[in-house]
Amino acid sequence: MVSSMKRTKFIRRYGSWALIAGGSQGIGEAFARELARKGVNLVLIARREELLKKLADKLEKEYEIKVRILSIDLAEDNFIEEIRKITDDIQVNLLVYNAAIIPIGSYFKSDLEEQFRVINVNCRGPTILIDYFGRKMIEKGKGGIILISSMAGLQGTPINVHYAATKAYNIVLAEGLWYEMRNFGVDVIVSITGSTATPNYIATKPDNPGIFVPKPLKPSTVAKKSLANLGKKPRIIPGISNKIASFFVQKILSRKQAIKLIGRSTYNMYGRNE
Ligand SMILES: NC(=O)c1ccc[n+]([C@@H]2O[C@H](COP(=O)([O-])OP(=O)(O)OC[C@H]3O[C@@H](n4cnc5c(N)ncnc54)[C@H](OP(=O)(O)O)[C@@H]3O)[C@@H](O)[C@H]2O)c1
Repeated sequence: MVSSMKRTKFIRRYGSWALIAGGSQGIGEAFARELARKGVNLVLIARREELLKKLADKLEKEYEIKVRILSIDLAEDNFIEEIRKITDDIQVNLLVYNAAIIPIGSYFKSDLEEQFRVINVNCRGPTILIDYFGRKMIEKGKGGIILISSMAGLQGTPINVHYAATKAYNIVLAEGLWYEMRNFGVDVIVSITGSTATPNYIATKPDNPGIFVPKPLKPSTVAKKSLANLGKKPRIIPGISNKIASFFVQKILSRKQAIKLIGRSTYNMYGRNE
């Protein structure tokens, strides 16, 4: 359990309620646990209600916090209405946007409708939630926003073409907001995450990635590092091997070399025929 002084300090800065979009498993679940350990009440959002219920029950019992759950699809047009209803009587001062659609496959194997679903969940979703909760945070003069991006967003990547582009959007969005919102007492950080052993990552059965895709991190490492750096810097790359890989790819290689190198490792992981 986090010491009571640290819990109080965290809650004074980021309030007693946090909302996690994509908060039922993997990295989102790890954020839920870390925040619960700090005594923060939670609003957890995902599509599968059963997973949400199970996690909410566990956290409420283990940490004596309140947990509200909402089963919605963040790709849908009017999802903010449902969120508004479930948060109207509380002040959410910490937003974690973790949900993403992560399609694996060549760009033209999916149709335009699927491409727009990826944009909806990965870009439109955080934009709507930042607009809704960010304004309230500014009014209160305190709060925090954490966006979960990916090292795929640092350059173009085959097999993950559109996903990588949406993750670049999240990096730049968070960096700009970090600068603007700190004047209003709101901290913003983007977590540029490398491979992480989540149910989704494990289900994709990646193969032989090569040295530029370091060993998967634990979801709890991503959550702990991101929370520890909120208010300190605009971006974090959790894991020392990921930091080294990103330094090499971004600072040593040319953009063209970087795209080719990451492209080759992605093909090694998923095959050229995906
Ligand atoms: N795992 C990795 O290796 C890795 C690497 C780099 C970056 N990341 C980033 O980390 C984040 C989480 O990835 P993950 O591997 O933990 O994924 P995950 O295991 O699939 O978890 C994603 C979470 O978001 C929810 N979600 C997904 N689509 C949703 C939708 N349309 N509406 C509402 N909720 C939705 C999922 O629950 P439901 O399915 O029930 O909706 C789940 O709670 C993503 O932003 C991803 O880009 C992951």
